[in-house]
Amino acid sequence: MTADEILKISRVPRFSLRRRWRLALIGVGGIAQSAHLPAYRKGQQIGLPIEVVAAADVDEGQRERARRLWGIPAVYADFREMLERERPDVVDITLHWERHADAKLAAVQTAAEYGCHILLQKPMAATWEQCVAMVEAAKKAGVLLAVNQNARFAPTFFAARRLVEAGAIGKPFALLLRSDFPNRYPAMVHDFCVHTMDLLRWLMGETPTIEAAMAQRDDRFRWCVTFLARYPNGAVATAIDTTCTPFATGWR
Ligand SMILES: NC(=O)c1ccc[n+]([C@@H]2O[C@H](COP(=O)([O-])OP(=O)(O)OC[C@H]3O[C@@H](n4cnc5c(N)ncnc54)[C@H](O)[C@@H]3O)[C@@H](O)[C@H]2O)c1
Repeated sequence: MTADEILKISRVPRFSLRRRWRLALIGVGGIAQSAHLPAYRKGQQIGLPIEVVAAADVDEGQRERARRLWGIPAVYADFREMLERERPDVVDITLHWERHADAKLAAVQTAAEYGCHILLQKPMAATWEQCVAMVEAAKKAGVLLAVNQNARFAPTFFAARRLVEAGAIGKPFALLLRSDFPNRYPAMVHDFCVHTMDLLRWLMGETPTIEAAMAQRDDRFRWCVTFLARYPNGAVATAIDTTCTPFATGWR
């Protein structure tokens, strides 16, 4: 590929929605209000046909913020009642994978029964069995189930994937991936490293065997996980996720 051809490769995803989507959220806590609702708002501003019609949260304060700050017209304490009354096309489930594990599975199963397509926050679930149950519910209902592995759409990784797909760098045989994040969270390894695991698969291929090792300080806020992934074609990848460096540089 020439440099000009490489520069023409898009660094950002492009969407084209051919119909209007009525969307409802289940859970309007931290990530919903800091990332999802701002993104839907921006989408509306650039003309994407997505309308946030309702939200459900067991917490009254969160419901109130959803209504007052984000202008969501209908808020519910019970997601079942919301699904019954609002009949959205798609639900965005942002319940916490660990704290709300049972409710998250029930929300997926119920939304599928109502024929809603489903976007799930990562990590998909707390156990393999719950993941399988979610996939089965979606298959049975014939709805789409997507997990929000949003690191894929960070411009760096999106561009890297496009370059690989376009053959710009040949077939990759090695990948080095590193993330330095601030030590605000105590050992959120399962929660955070799922992004890294996803990127290892997405950029290099589907079936690596992965070895991982972790070290952490007593306060659990400082930790480091190293990964070694081997792929069937002989390629390798190494990744380090850490909160131990003084400057958080994000992903590199
Ligand atoms: N993709 C990312 O980069 C990213 C970033 C941050 C968080 N997350 C993920 O998002 C998920 C949520 O994290 P959070 O920090 O927003 O959690 P949170 O606890 O702030 O929000 C969850 C909300 O769900 C509500 N809830 C609990 N049970 C409910 C039920 N039965 N029905 C309706 N609502 C219910 C809670 O009241 C809360 O408001 C986690 O799995 C986390 O890993 C992803």
